Amino acid sequence: MTDGARAPEDETPPSDRTPPARGVRVPVADLLPGQTRVFTFDEDGWEQSAFVVHHEGALRVFVNRCPHVPYTLDFGDGELMSPDRRTLVCANHGARFDPATGRCTAGPPIGRALTALAFTRDGDDVMVDVAPHTDGI
Ligand code: FES
Repeated sequence: MTDGARAPEDETPPSDRTPPARGVRVPVADLLPGQTRVFTFDEDGWEQSAFVVHHEGALRVFVNRCPHVPYTLDFGDGELMSPDRRTLVCANHGARFDPATGRCTAGPPIGRALTALAFTRDGDDVMVDVAPHTDGI
């Protein structure tokens, strides 16, 4: 507004308002098999890290937080895969995770799993649902 007039207040009752979108758009068109893409999102004012992994023709999205100790799997360098690009690795204590399921297959948190995030494909991107999760992390 350039004439100093204020925009009208939203008179919609709070209970009728659509909740804010909690999706994060992540480009994946150039993500090759065995590659990952780290992204961040806000969770209650805290920056959180997550990543998309391309594994055996499918995409998966996980919170970038180890179930052993709640550190990111990488040291901030985005390096999440084993040298053969078939396994996710935690840089902290060497735990290995199946990229298809997020389940730990070796290391301290064996039997536990990374937290998966739901997503939908939207052209060259994925829209990741980063709504708060309650699965113990
Ligand atoms: S923090 Fe990941 S294996 Fe210990």
